Amino acid sequence: HGHGHGKGLSFGPIETQDRLVDDVVVPRGYEWSTIIRWGDPILPGGHAFDVTAQSEAQQKLQFGYNVDYLDILPEHPRDIRSMVETRRGRRGLLVTNHEYTNPDIMFDESYDEATKRAVQRAAHGMSVVEVVRRRTGDPWTYLRVAPKNRRVHMDTEFTIDGPVAGHDLMKTVEDPTGTTVRGTLNNCAGGTTPWGTVLSGEENWHGYFKVAGGDPRDARYGLSSSPTRYGWELDDPRFDTSNPGYENEHHRFGWVVEIDPYDPTAAPVKHTALGRFKHEGANVIVAPDKRVVAYMGDDEQFDYVYKFVSKNAMRNGHSHWARAHNKTLLSEGDLYVAKFTGDSPAAEIDGTGALPSDGAFDGTGEWLPLVVDGASAVPGMSVEEVLLFTRVAADTVGATKMDRPEDVEPNPFTGNVYVACTNNSSRGSSGREGATEPNPRNQNRDGHVVEIVEGDQTSTDFRWNLLLVAGDPSQNDSTYFSGFPADKVSPISCPDNVAFDQQGNLWISTDGQPSAIGRCDGIFRVTLTGRKRGNVEQFLSVPRSAEACGPLIDLRDEMVYVNVQHPGDDGSFAEPTSLFPDYLDAGERGPVGSWRGPRPSTVQVYKKRGRR
Ligand code: FEO
Ligand code: CA
Ligand code: CA
Ligand code: CA
Repeated sequence: HGHGHGKGLSFGPIETQDRLVDDVVVPRGYEWSTIIRWGDPILPGGHAFDVTAQSEAQQKLQFGYNVDYLDILPEHPRDIRSMVETRRGRRGLLVTNHEYTNPDIMFDESYDEATKRAVQRAAHGMSVVEVVRRRTGDPWTYLRVAPKNRRVHMDTEFTIDGPVAGHDLMKTVEDPTGTTVRGTLNNCAGGTTPWGTVLSGEENWHGYFKVAGGDPRDARYGLSSSPTRYGWELDDPRFDTSNPGYENEHHRFGWVVEIDPYDPTAAPVKHTALGRFKHEGANVIVAPDKRVVAYMGDDEQFDYVYKFVSKNAMRNGHSHWARAHNKTLLSEGDLYVAKFTGDSPAAEIDGTGALPSDGAFDGTGEWLPLVVDGASAVPGMSVEEVLLFTRVAADTVGATKMDRPEDVEPNPFTGNVYVACTNNSSRGSSGREGATEPNPRNQNRDGHVVEIVEGDQTSTDFRWNLLLVAGDPSQNDSTYFSGFPADKVSPISCPDNVAFDQQGNLWISTDGQPSAIGRCDGIFRVTLTGRKRGNVEQFLSVPRSAEACGPLIDLRDEMVYVNVQHPGDDGSFAEPTSLFPDYLDAGERGPVGSWRGPRPSTVQVYKKRGRR
């Protein structure tokens, strides 16, 4: 490889695992352990997790549920050189999202419904946890009490900034200024910025609000007037926007959140300049002129890929002054949405995934402006409306409907951008758009990955191609791996999160393999350059019914990290289908007594050494 430095991660790909396998499977020569699990105490007063005595107050002092985004930041932000050139020493800051909750496997029948709802509100959000180890390359231990440990949950106060802050459509009876909001919802993927903050996407926030109904802009986000699955409107009037004073509460969710893990007292910020949609996450790269560019996906069938270009340039270094400036970069800038144009005749894109006659799904693209120089580029919509109802704005300008774009992340070595389109079972179904060159399969069960080649990160035009069209080649002949032989790759389906290692390899984690190809989800390395471009090698498999999230690869330490989200969510509390992560025998007493059910956890994988 021509990129980066450091030695690679040597491993033989693991076998793909049947969907019923309830284990973390790692390559020969590696072993795994958990760093922290749902319910582990992280703040003073937090008790060891007791599944029979959960409370809202305790959950606010404990690690939250369903872990998604994951990073381990160095002790000092000065050790963040770029997204992949972080030097992790003997102390670090583990930052994770807690996307949602699974009450059927969290609570026994002794809990009343109101308590269950309150615990779940406290189990949403984010965690910052200090971690330590004896030396680089050793596994980490988390600290139960440490100055930077922090839980963000539904009662944490956030600042709203950017063009929509203070607008009438952001005001409520609790916040007549429209500039602060309690809580964050459904935080899915994210990204760590070069200045050492973490971005987090508010994704399926619509499911927590009962709205008055009748506003087509609300309908475009899937909001409805039916009671919600979570039922929080029974406890707090703000979750039913037909309550007087709360008409705008749902406008205060659906944003990209920025948290500074180095400053536990700073309120996290919701950045309205990056638009409001079902944000999977956001990933920042620095352009040659030092402006910063954030790439984002809106994870919904037939929704869009976006990019934000900051107005101001990044300041180098991690002085207090530089960091304070850099933390304002996402407050003001231009917002674009992607239009992909194929270069093959439409008739050659037949929906089966068969390659067109030029041998590639590829073409050119354009970043269509939504907001430029502080002005709306969308006819009939103000800047505030474009940013609040971004899906409607993108519909208006004719953006390209994608197959659920999830993580969108630039390769820090090449600037090429990778879009994980996880799947789209509705493409080509009655009344819905059929296959296009960038989304070439109808009933796209297995998903694909788009590679965007930018001129410069701030360019408004680009070239693109499909790096891979996913699936299990043994049961699907419409897979494509950039020309690499399909019989030599690990089967892969439903790409969700992407990451890069220090050699510029792409890593993918999946969500949905059990139902798509009957295999457990996992994490995979994909070679991007040279003869082996397109080779997919599975590194790890997660337990039954779990999703693999956030992968973090550190070649310096020969370590890989993964968040194991919703293990055993096909079971019940009484009859768990996953015993991850403690795998207790029946009757054995473990860290949570005799309860054997699953706990979403952060997992570390490291080289086996004799001395362990
Ligand atoms: Fe929370 Fe789009 O995954
Ligand atoms: Ca083509
Ligand atoms: Ca995801
Ligand atoms: Ca990522």
